[in-house]
Amino acid sequence: MTPAALREMVARFPSLPFVAAPTIVEPMPALRTLLGGGPGLFIKRDDAIPFGFGGNKVRKLALVAAQAVAEGADTLVTAGGIQSNHARATASAAAKLGLRAVLVANGDAPSRFTANALLDRLLGADVVYVATREDRAPMILTVCERLRAENRRPFAIPIGASTPLGALGFALAVAELVDQMPAPHVIVHSTSSGGTQAGLVAGCRLLGLHTRVVGISADDSSASLQRQVRAIISGVADLLDLDLETLSRGTAIEVDDRFVGGGYGIPTDASQEAIELAARTEAIFLDPTYTAKAMAGLIAYVRQQKFKDHQTVVFWHTGGQVALFA
Ligand SMILES: Cc1ncc(COP(=O)(O)O)c(C=O)c1O
Repeated sequence: MTPAALREMVARFPSLPFVAAPTIVEPMPALRTLLGGGPGLFIKRDDAIPFGFGGNKVRKLALVAAQAVAEGADTLVTAGGIQSNHARATASAAAKLGLRAVLVANGDAPSRFTANALLDRLLGADVVYVATREDRAPMILTVCERLRAENRRPFAIPIGASTPLGALGFALAVAELVDQMPAPHVIVHSTSSGGTQAGLVAGCRLLGLHTRVVGISADDSSASLQRQVRAIISGVADLLDLDLETLSRGTAIEVDDRFVGGGYGIPTDASQEAIELAARTEAIFLDPTYTAKAMAGLIAYVRQQKFKDHQTVVFWHTGGQVALFA
């Protein structure tokens, strides 16, 4: 199908104009030279989405928050870490739409509010703290019940807005990319709750591209993320009333978990090098938890000559740079 046909198919879902699309795609010639040549390197600048400090969550929330509005919600409820980019993007959407936001955050209330936690405060979000990551999803339900008992109309958004509807935002983003440049041979990006990757893979499959999509994990194992991405893609097929077969062919679900290091948010030598190289060669700022590890993956692949010189590789910058100020 063509990009126009994909847009038309998704147009039946309401969407909010948060993204200011298209985001810029630019080459990274100095990084390429520093790495000793290799494939053409490009970057898709979703970090530069103006809304709410940008990032990949804005593409998903354009659709998910629109559904909340359509259902008459008055409060968006979601969860993440204290420094969650997704929580900040959700609080931004709520503020812009005149809704309340309740964010469930795992960890202790910070003694100093910095970076995303500071922005959540400025945006007027209420934060409920829970002890562990496992406590987050049940607490979303509890908060929603509490709000309903007060005659409020909560709308729960799962972690990362990685629902089939949210993923559609990234299927559309593939259509946006191929209007800007010939389909790249490879897209490399950070993956965690799987919605970004599900949308990118679904977009490539729907458009019949030969593009590889490589998700570099920020935390979970390749096997569990692949399962998660597959499940979201199957939900996308349901949403679009497509036969799952149609959405199962083409671009593979590739997840590389070798760059996680000691765990979620724990820097590695390679992620720290990636932050410095991207800043010093291209004035691109990466966040320590997600995009630095994804860029570390891209750098390692180029150094190991996993790509051919004639190929084009797009690094999809998914944002999160606010976390540099935590
Ligand atoms: C900056 C950044 N990049 C990448 C990701 C991963 O995206 P997804 O959760 O859609 O896999 C996240 C999600 O938390 C993020 O905040």
